[in-house]
Amino acid sequence: MVTAQAFPGALDRDGREALNAGVSDAFWLDAVKRLDWMTPPTQAGDWSFEKDDFHIRWFGEGVLNVSANCIDRHLTERGDQVAIVFEPDEPDDRFHKFTYREVHRAVCRFANVMKSQGVRKGDRVTIYMPMIPEAAFAMLACARIGAVHSVVFGGFSPEALAGRLEDCGSRIVITADEGRRGGKSVPLKANVDAACAIAEIDTVIVVQATGGEVTMQDGRDIWYHEAAETVSADCPPEPMNAEDPLFILYTSGSTGKPKGVMHTTGGYLFWAAYTHELCFAHQPGQLFWCTADVGWVTGHSYVVYGPLANGGATLMFEGVPNYPTPSRFWEVCDKHQVETIFTAPTALRALMREGDDFVTRTSRSSLKLLGTVGEPINPEAWRWYHDVVGEGRCPVIDTWWQTETGAALIAPSPAMPLKPGSATLPLPGVTPELVDADGQVLEGATSGNLCLTTSWPGMMRGVWGDADRFFQTYFTAYPGKYFTGDGARRDADGYWWITGRVDDVINVSGHRMGTAEVESALVLHADVAEAAVVGMPHDIKGQGIYAYVTLNADATPSDQLRRELVQWVRREIGPIASPDALQFAPGLPKTRSGKIMRRILRKIAEGEVSAAALGDTSTLADPAVVDDLVANRIGQ
Ligand code: WT7
Repeated sequence: MVTAQAFPGALDRDGREALNAGVSDAFWLDAVKRLDWMTPPTQAGDWSFEKDDFHIRWFGEGVLNVSANCIDRHLTERGDQVAIVFEPDEPDDRFHKFTYREVHRAVCRFANVMKSQGVRKGDRVTIYMPMIPEAAFAMLACARIGAVHSVVFGGFSPEALAGRLEDCGSRIVITADEGRRGGKSVPLKANVDAACAIAEIDTVIVVQATGGEVTMQDGRDIWYHEAAETVSADCPPEPMNAEDPLFILYTSGSTGKPKGVMHTTGGYLFWAAYTHELCFAHQPGQLFWCTADVGWVTGHSYVVYGPLANGGATLMFEGVPNYPTPSRFWEVCDKHQVETIFTAPTALRALMREGDDFVTRTSRSSLKLLGTVGEPINPEAWRWYHDVVGEGRCPVIDTWWQTETGAALIAPSPAMPLKPGSATLPLPGVTPELVDADGQVLEGATSGNLCLTTSWPGMMRGVWGDADRFFQTYFTAYPGKYFTGDGARRDADGYWWITGRVDDVINVSGHRMGTAEVESALVLHADVAEAAVVGMPHDIKGQGIYAYVTLNADATPSDQLRRELVQWVRREIGPIASPDALQFAPGLPKTRSGKIMRRILRKIAEGEVSAAALGDTSTLADPAVVDDLVANRIGQ
């Protein structure tokens, strides 16, 4: 236990528990006044998780605009205050600061350029951008005109981008000539060109970011800076119903293609802003730095929507933690006087390995809070963050949540006592519950499968284009409850410890990867007959990807083919999906009914190959395959 620190403006444990105990419809209707409504809502939550009556709605009758809430309403009081600080990949390149007034003009222009290209309320707009301010401008511009954005992480391949374009029927892409990350160029426009060969695209708006060479196709591609010159810097915000979609964000599940998680205007924005203030005791004007890319939900909620809705200043960093040196994060904190940094355990583990000197040579005196998100944080990394980076004076805010949940659900407030590795207590209106495999509710200090029994405003409302998939995916394992896919432990003190996924999802460096997706990519290769993918422990990434591949009869295993298959997956999905280990397997452990026993594959990937660890293999169609898998395990 790390004793609670005094933290002005933040709740202590009693305060949090009292707040949680006071949740009611009246509580929500009062709390949501933090947003500016064109028409205030008259209803809080209206929802049922039951099959016959399944529906989720929040803030009924409410009308608002997200971009007006993130920009316009701050103009009178803080128009000249910095809203966005941009720190480029190269430390010596010019950084930029944008005031709320400048962001207003930029977003209006962006919105007008989109309108001039025929984008209307309800249209889907795909954003495939580097971490530059224009990415945020584009998102806010969509929100301004009521278009639904789908941000696709710039690290995804043309194939992955095309799949997401087609799934949501988006006919317009906003991109940049290139991105810069860690001194390297990312050919975004060229990737879009390749995606256009697969998906049907009418318009590509290209932001000039690096000045790198690109080919522009007449009638399809336009330069943003040219189009922006011809439009007005004023664009009225579109009135939107609270339940109108704000964005789609694709995420991986245990089966099938990535699904388009849909979030709404009112509930989502409220939850992003409310949790940002509650977890980080955020005050208007403070500089908040979330290191996530806007291609992930963390970037949506804590780079763009939360901080700006709260009148904060948000830092957008184009680069990576270890470029040009492992001091970069802390140098950026010093340069811009960052008050809160919010990053992922994987980055901390990578930096920790480089030695304390890269940290201690910097000042970090502006830091007040240290946030973490994306995967369980091991106590060692937690301690290092707290003791070395924060010199013991900054609370560590471990926020547990998911793309589906919109923003944080279990997380401390800064004045609460902390425990390294625990996300502490639920936020108001969040009701976690542990169940066993049969759905029996577990009481007291114990471990189990983590469910949520009630709705909260920021929860996803659907899977784009597939009305049944939302209910099927999350509400059928334990009827009447939302199943998170995570395992968790509740300790004797009532604190929550998330232990990781219990489904076929791998958490690689805080990013979700569906095993089924990697398997589908592998079997597309002409030499591959079958593939099974599981997670394996990885010092830096948390989990790595371990692939078992059965080749076609006429193909021969070789190191060259192994490298080719790894490259193949990279090209099909993106670098984050690259297998860390790839084992050729003449056979996979299957039951007599043909089901692959992943439990055994996981154990072998973890290096746990004793008979006790592997358990009963006698029900396998061919128990001998296990011996071969063990004998040829990678990394022994
Ligand atoms: C999965 C969601 C949360 C936004 C970024 C990832 C894991 C996330 C934590 C945490 C332990 C965590 C869970 C969750 N996870 N945060 N603080 N402690 N595990 O969003 O890609 O939707 O992944 O990330 O397993 O289910 P995502």
